Amino acid sequence: MNPALYEAALERISRLFGEDATGHDVHHTLRVYRMAMRLAEAEGADRELVGLAAMLHDADDPKLFGSGDGLPNAQAFMEEQGISPAQADVVCTMIGEVSFSKNGSKRPSTIEGMVVQDADRLDAIGAIGIARTFAFGGSRGQAIHDPDRTTGTSIAHFYEKLLKLKDLMNTEEARRIAEERHRYMEAFLSEFHDEWDGVR
Ligand code: ADP
Ligand code: NI
Repeated sequence: MNPALYEAALERISRLFGEDATGHDVHHTLRVYRMAMRLAEAEGADRELVGLAAMLHDADDPKLFGSGDGLPNAQAFMEEQGISPAQADVVCTMIGEVSFSKNGSKRPSTIEGMVVQDADRLDAIGAIGIARTFAFGGSRGQAIHDPDRTTGTSIAHFYEKLLKLKDLMNTEEARRIAEERHRYMEAFLSEFHDEWDGVR
């Protein structure tokens, strides 16, 4: 992605996310961007499209910005930057296809969308994923764990979503990275339950 466009996107998302503490800070987006560019390289995907979609993928997240129609923040940014309406449409379609909640386990329709979805999902697992889960749970006033509950706690979120992500990766490189991060989460959960049960 060209440096001037990257700088402008960085400035915009920094302003949009501010000091968000729900796991959607600007650093999440920058990690997704870097990972997406790495996967784009491996897959031969269009780096301009991947870069734009990665930088803007949470810019209209309903959890932060309310659920109106369309992607006004992403659209406004691209228009200001002189991105053609046709290219902006492609980027918006990619962003719509990336979301887990909206899209479930459906695969994005392009390799560029697949790469950004993989990068976003990789940031939900591993050490960073663990940290984000408890940050998000805390921000919602959700319990860390309750052995009687299989939903609505941060530990439950691992079983409901995070441990499933490695099998949903679209690309080879992402699958390889996901497997390592998955093992790390399993080790964490095993230790967590042992400590909880007083075994250790
Ligand atoms: P993303 O922007 O990566 O698609 P989400 O908006 O789904 O992520 O969630 C942001 C972060 O909060 C992720 O790390 C996700 O795993 C975590 N998260 C989402 N829902 C829950 C939940 N119910 N409990 C704990 N963590 C959650
Ligand atoms: Ni995200």
